[in-house]
Amino acid sequence: MLFSFKLPSATLILAAFVGTALCQFPPTPQEVKVLKSKFHENVTISYKKPGICETTPGVKSYAGYVHLPPGFLDDAIGSPQDYPINTFFWFFESRKNPSTAPLAIWLNGGPGGSSIMGLLEENGPCFITPDSKSSSILNPWSWNNEVNMLYIDQPNQVGFSYDVLTNATFSPADFGFIPEPADFSKGVPETNVTFMVGTVSSGKQNSTAHSTAQAAHALWHFMQTWFFEFPHYKPGDDRVSLWTESYGGHYGPGFMRFFQEQNEKIDEGESLEDGAHKLHLDVLGIVNGCVDFLVQGEDYFHYGFDNPYDIPIFNKSTYDTLLHSWRHRGGLKDQFQACRDAIEQGSANMSTICDNVVGDFLGVIDGYVTEAGVGDYDITHPAADPFPPPYLYGYLTQESVLGALGVPVNYTPVSIAVNQAFTFDTYDILLGGFIEELGALLDGGVKVHMVYGDSDYACNWLGGETASLSIPHSHHSSFSSAGYTPLLIPSSPERSYGLTRQHSNLSFTRVFNAGHEVPSYQPQAAYEIFMRATRNVDIATGTIPVTGELKTEGRKNVRGVKVKRGKEVKPRCYVLKRQTCTDEVWEGVVNGTVEVRDWFVVGDEEEKGEWRDL
Ligand SMILES: *[C@@H]1O[C@H](CO)[C@@H](O)[C@H](O)[C@H]1NC(C)=O
Ligand SMILES: *[C@@H]1O[C@H](CO)[C@@H](O)[C@H](O)[C@H]1NC(C)=O
Ligand SMILES: *[C@@H]1O[C@H](CO)[C@@H](O)[C@H](O)[C@H]1NC(C)=O
Ligand SMILES: *[C@@H]1O[C@H](CO)[C@@H](O)[C@H](O)[C@H]1NC(C)=O
Ligand SMILES: *[C@@H]1O[C@H](CO)[C@@H](O)[C@H](O)[C@H]1NC(C)=O
Ligand SMILES: *[C@@H]1O[C@H](CO)[C@@H](O)[C@H](O)[C@H]1NC(C)=O
Ligand SMILES: *[C@@H]1O[C@H](CO)[C@@H](O)[C@H](O)[C@H]1NC(C)=O
Ligand SMILES: *[C@@H]1O[C@H](CO)[C@@H](O)[C@H](O)[C@H]1NC(C)=O
Repeated sequence: MLFSFKLPSATLILAAFVGTALCQFPPTPQEVKVLKSKFHENVTISYKKPGICETTPGVKSYAGYVHLPPGFLDDAIGSPQDYPINTFFWFFESRKNPSTAPLAIWLNGGPGGSSIMGLLEENGPCFITPDSKSSSILNPWSWNNEVNMLYIDQPNQVGFSYDVLTNATFSPADFGFIPEPADFSKGVPETNVTFMVGTVSSGKQNSTAHSTAQAAHALWHFMQTWFFEFPHYKPGDDRVSLWTESYGGHYGPGFMRFFQEQNEKIDEGESLEDGAHKLHLDVLGIVNGCVDFLVQGEDYFHYGFDNPYDIPIFNKSTYDTLLHSWRHRGGLKDQFQACRDAIEQGSANMSTICDNVVGDFLGVIDGYVTEAGVGDYDITHPAADPFPPPYLYGYLTQESVLGALGVPVNYTPVSIAVNQAFTFDTYDILLGGFIEELGALLDGGVKVHMVYGDSDYACNWLGGETASLSIPHSHHSSFSSAGYTPLLIPSSPERSYGLTRQHSNLSFTRVFNAGHEVPSYQPQAAYEIFMRATRNVDIATGTIPVTGELKTEGRKNVRGVKVKRGKEVKPRCYVLKRQTCTDEVWEGVVNGTVEVRDWFVVGDEEEKGEWRDL
């Protein structure tokens, strides 16, 4: 998920919605084991077995926290860490041979988005039932079939991660529910579907990471504790991969490169921590990643005018105007570069220049997609997009679920504090350098696989392709001279699921008929890509071991390849996910004139049950 907007007037919401799914306080956590770190004073790990979601007999899962006390990261985050960092994780052992399976971490984007979304909507062991009540639908294409999977909510305040427990009320704004700290010592007000209460993080922008670089630092410390002290992770295969989505285009390269640098520092005896362990870094996977907005920028205009589904977001004259405004001297592209220069120089007019870029560039691309009435994450769907099914938000309000997970907070799908900190405190969303980091990773022996659903606009495949071809690394010319070959899956060998370009350790795949969250749309194709990367065989067929000579053949330009769109989808308003609701229906939710059942607006439901073929 990727989005960013400026409060109070939204300039861009390239994503889900803001707010918190709740209506009751979390119960006091029970049966939680707490272990003190052997290596770090005042660091603890707490966890329990949830017994929900992964119900395959014999397959274990653990949910819990790594607790870092205030001051722990003072050495390197650039500002004092005067708040605790309680980072939530949910670990699933592999369904097969967990003791010899490698490990992969999954991170959603945002900035500020929770990884539980990926877990329950994209690639985890279970899906939620349409009444939002149960996690009883097992996912046959779960990524933990043969890999130990670790889902982490980061940075602090996202999802179930928290700084300081804070009571709050939640009221609807244009784009979701906004928390407002509240004191309930004199009683709890009456609630309804648009006025809720709960316990969340402080919401303070200074009590979380402000940038990918800071978040990398916090995550590395999390990993030092979790990898080497969590008693239920005993790797027979110590490889660690990282798969990320959307804003993961920043997180993925930023974090993996930081880990790689720490490995080097450990070798040189200059580690940030005494006794730190090296991590055996294997694969970095990026799903519909926005890696570099400046590099990917122009492709928003190309995609808006000419895309695989022939759904124009604007006409030829608007396209020409936009392209000119981007390219001309002193235009958007130059302003973008000026913003980066200002950030680098710490220039006094940085915020003036960069705020304009957020508004003029991100605001504009979002504005047209809204005007066209199509989904940001899937242009073949309506703007009020009911897919992927939003049932997890209702599911996670239930007391029994919060109790099973042992969390003392309600769920925050997208943290406003984090989003605002990344957007306006540091302009992390506009920063460059992540493409260069991909190059350093490749040259350091980390494999990089990029996967883009081709009906997504938010981080569209054209921009992804441009990013892949821009990575500076020692095999750049071999990669760019490779051609696209069909992505094939054994169960339906006659169908091409997409197109893959690969040279050795780097691949780029365009997946047909998939939006932003590729595993939700094409679960099997996403699964095959993930497993082929893990097994170190070619992405397109899964039959050829990766060597320095592996190079795909075929057409080098597949931008003109068109795709037939899937079944038509209609909006259906789910009140905990604002952007599934048209403005008109939402007005009815707010003014209380609609009936809501299982979080859906009754009557707004023609397409019920048709969104997922499972
Ligand atoms: C651990 O916590 C105690 C009590 O709050 C404090 O006095 C001590 O300085 C802390 N140690 C470290 C290394 O932070
Ligand atoms: C939140 O309010 C509830 C109800 O008054 C209370 O039981 C709980 O202790 C409060 N939690 C916090 C963190 O203040
Ligand atoms: C947040 O931190 C920055 C930098 O340390 C500081 O300038 C600012 O005043 C802080 N804001 C608040 C609300 O504490
Ligand atoms: C193109 O779209 C813009 C609005 O987005 C509209 O004002 C203009 O008239 C359109 N031009 C043509 C030739 O249809
Ligand atoms: C920003 O400030 C620099 C000097 O510090 C100046 O050269 C430049 O024109 C300014 N840019 C804008 C957009 O105000
Ligand atoms: C690919 O990665 C492996 C390590 O996994 C490394 O040994 C090899 O040199 C890399 N090949 C190329 C062409 O970068
Ligand atoms: C409530 O909203 C609905 C949907 O927009 C509208 O038709 C209706 O007139 C509104 N009712 C009141 C009482 O405001
Ligand atoms: C929900 O409760 C809030 C706060 O009491 C109130 O302002 C609002 O009108 C209520 N909404 C409905 C639909 O009843």
